[in-house]
Amino acid sequence: MLPELQTFRTCLKPLNFSHAPQIFDLRSNTEVMRYMDSESCRNLEDAEMFICRQIEANKENEGANWGIFLRDSAQLIGYAGFWRINKEHFRGEFGYALHPDFWRTGLMLEVLNDIACYGFKNLGLHSIEANINPKNSASAGLLLKLGFKLEAQFSENFYFNGIFHDSHIYSLLEKNFIQSCINEKSET
Ligand SMILES: CC(C)(COP(=O)(O)OP(=O)(O)OC[C@H]1O[C@@H](n2cnc3c(N)ncnc32)[C@H](O)[C@@H]1OP(=O)(O)O)[C@@H](O)C(=O)NCCC(=O)NCCS
Repeated sequence: MLPELQTFRTCLKPLNFSHAPQIFDLRSNTEVMRYMDSESCRNLEDAEMFICRQIEANKENEGANWGIFLRDSAQLIGYAGFWRINKEHFRGEFGYALHPDFWRTGLMLEVLNDIACYGFKNLGLHSIEANINPKNSASAGLLLKLGFKLEAQFSENFYFNGIFHDSHIYSLLEKNFIQSCINEKSET
């Protein structure tokens, strides 16, 4: 079972169905969904379906996903994790979103840094991928700050809502992730 994780300012807990109203709030927010290129939640059932996919993926070790809570608070402010894990290639794919009230406070950097640590150290990943809409400059900036490199660019390869979108693929190799947790790993 996926453990709860503590970052400096947040607590990361796997989602359950009681979080559906907060997930609905997040995934029906037009600012949050602008570059996600995935369906917004139209109702609570959509939010429950989203949570159900995370629960199933976590259970089957095909993903590792957490809700993001401020420490000592029951308020869900986002989610993050590996929405897909390719076991054969020891590669996880990031998925993440944060409520706009908390943007640009360094929170997602803190959360993804610790999740990357967990992925390399505990899930045995060799690399992490992120596939983003090139217009998502916040996401691109965040990934670069984490040490990701832009490795591939595809033109109009993704069809969503009647439009062909471009994609940028970013990647981070374990050996290039030089955060303290990896240093600790090599010392043990
Ligand atoms: C992308 C997202 C998660 C960033 O979260 P955040 O908590 O605001 O990011 P942080 O505060 O940790 O920022 C870390 C770094 O990312 C970059 N960054 C973040 N927001 C940025 C923006 N709007 N423009 C440019 N760079 C940005 C900066 O380099 C920033 O470091 P700095 O503030 O010291 O300059 C947030 O904007 C979000 O939830 N967007 C909607 C959902 C989404 O698009 N998810 C990704 C799908 S691929």
